[in-house]
Amino acid sequence: QDKPIPGGNTVRVEFEDGIAWVHLDRPEKRNAMSMEMARDMNAVLDALELDDRCGVIVLTGSGEAFSAGMDLQGFFRASDAVSDVERHRAYRETRAWQWRTLMFYAKPTIAMVNGWCFGGAFTPLICCDLAITDEAATFGLSEINWGIIPGGVVSKAISTLMGDREALYYVMTGEKFDGARAKELGLVNEAVPADRLKARTRELAKVLLEKNPTTLRQARMAYKYAREMNWELAAEYLTAKGDQTTFVDKEKGREKGMVQFLDEKTYKPGLGNYKR
Ligand code: ACO
Repeated sequence: QDKPIPGGNTVRVEFEDGIAWVHLDRPEKRNAMSMEMARDMNAVLDALELDDRCGVIVLTGSGEAFSAGMDLQGFFRASDAVSDVERHRAYRETRAWQWRTLMFYAKPTIAMVNGWCFGGAFTPLICCDLAITDEAATFGLSEINWGIIPGGVVSKAISTLMGDREALYYVMTGEKFDGARAKELGLVNEAVPADRLKARTRELAKVLLEKNPTTLRQARMAYKYAREMNWELAAEYLTAKGDQTTFVDKEKGREKGMVQFLDEKTYKPGLGNYKR
């Protein structure tokens, strides 16, 4: 394709058979997240949403880190030094990509944690749909170690996946833990040896690429919105969302699935996908 590859100075994107590998790309700074990186990530996510080369995003880091969290120089010190309005903007641009955009992104997202993962890095990790880590990666809510709280939206994000006892333990102690422990805590789907990390992530991305993309998007959104609702509202919303899915699905997956199972008897939905 002729389209340029989005990225900027701080993010590197590689396309591979429908997968967009998005690297936070400041390895010399352990991919600490600066104001510039927020602008680059917003631009990259905007571009990839409409880019046919991307069916699934894998968010990872260059070098030995996923991300060492917010950049103490390039985010905190830099945003302390500007006007209140500019500071507000810096926080908004960071929240946009780390949370709002990723959480409700049109395409499936997998975080691949390849090394250090501290503080603010928990937000994009948690806001990706799925996550796989190197079992030896190092995680930490290190904020307490330098006199701040897990702010931004980190405290909220961890409370959606971790139990209160574990979350508060790590918030209060700042103790680091490894990828295997991150799996036990529910922060990731799988912890694998470093030499399996990329292959296993690719395998999972390929499973997602085989699904009907419309249904997959609707299913992800339905889950994320419904979990905030009470049962009555969720039942109403999910029924309506199901109808909307049938309406917007150009592939007519529901109909194909029924015909192939009930009439043609060519597949069993419990055991795999309908023929697309
Ligand atoms: N902010 C700014 N710069 C950083 C950050 C960060 N979060 N993390 C690393 N760097 C910089 C270092 O200052 C250093 O820069 P320099 O080469 O110009 O001196 C460079 O990246 C390499 O870092 P080292 O500390 O030398 O690398 P090392 O591999 O020994 O250690 C580690 C890596 C453990 C990740 C360490 O850098 C560290 O503790 N970083 C801070 C982690 C953290 O607590 N992040 C903030 C969480 S709080 C929040 O996000 C809101």
